[in-house]
Amino acid sequence: MKDIILTGDRPTGNLHLGHYVGSVLNRVKLQNQGGYEKFYIMIADTQALTDNAERVDRVKNNIIQVAIDYISAGIDTSKVNIFIQSLVPELFEMTSYFMNFVSVSRLQRNPTIKDEIKQRGFERTIPIGFLNYPVSQASDILAFGTTVVPVGEDQLPMIEQTREIVNSFNNIYKPKEEVFRLPKALLPEEQICRRLPGLDGKVKMSKSVGNAIYLCDDEKTIKEKVMSAYTDPDHIRVSDPGKIEGNIVFSYLDAFASDDDFKKYLPEYKNLEELKEHYKKGGLGDVKVKLFLNNILQELLAPIREKRRYLEEHINDIYELLFENSKKASTQAHIILDKMKDAMGLDYTKLLK
Ligand code: TRP
Repeated sequence: MKDIILTGDRPTGNLHLGHYVGSVLNRVKLQNQGGYEKFYIMIADTQALTDNAERVDRVKNNIIQVAIDYISAGIDTSKVNIFIQSLVPELFEMTSYFMNFVSVSRLQRNPTIKDEIKQRGFERTIPIGFLNYPVSQASDILAFGTTVVPVGEDQLPMIEQTREIVNSFNNIYKPKEEVFRLPKALLPEEQICRRLPGLDGKVKMSKSVGNAIYLCDDEKTIKEKVMSAYTDPDHIRVSDPGKIEGNIVFSYLDAFASDDDFKKYLPEYKNLEELKEHYKKGGLGDVKVKLFLNNILQELLAPIREKRRYLEEHINDIYELLFENSKKASTQAHIILDKMKDAMGLDYTKLLK
């Protein structure tokens, strides 16, 4: 059987470079490789509301922003179904059944949930919907027969939870035919792309922390952000030896620089190794390295921004596509939901004689 691919993002803001190298790039690659049966990208608005209940407008307005980010970054809507989570009610029905297999303490042990509880100050009171979102995410994945989930590292616990739910379902209901396929995560190959650090060097790049470069940032903003990136605080004079570890500019070069970029923008060096050696020895200033990174990022982001400008004039068409795609997704999810209820013995129509 061919793979079914599904992934998604919460529409709480525009996509940034962490999303780009951590998942969008991987999706574009997969999309162009072909060989899959279906490919879905879900805009997870309902999940976004689990910690934005009072900010409905923010979530609502970001749906189109995220869709534009995807398409301008290279997602081809003739190959990929981009849909809106809340327009597929089957997902929430499925979640209701799955909730019976998962304990509160299991959810509290989920490392991503743990981090997010801290970040959001939910230690004293956790909204049930928030704690439950890994279960809801299992429905997102299972309702479409997904086998491959291209995500960043922080989503691994969600895939693990999904697999546990499949196993619990199979143990309890012993379906005669397979209802759910076991999904696996697909991480970016490069370690640095799995968790791109933020400009401040403290945590991963994140819209809630404000340490991100966005796909829609203009030229001036990108340059300002690059010039402000955290480097080595002990590298004060150009002649000082510098540290690479924890130096965000070098982390980004790891993620974005190619040997061709050296030919084009910094021909005195053959590759990143040479540049790093020089920095470590001393005699290479931060500004030069930052300007190099800036050139690379400007070249990457200019065409994306250009495409975005065009898409922003066709917002209605994009909404229509999202609505139509969501209907298709709903039809698809309904098939698996029916199979699930059959396997559970919830097929009440059979009671009619
Ligand atoms: N939790 C993901 C995020 O925060 C979004 C998401 C929701 C998702 N449902 C999904 C990702 C299903 C992969 C598969 O970005």
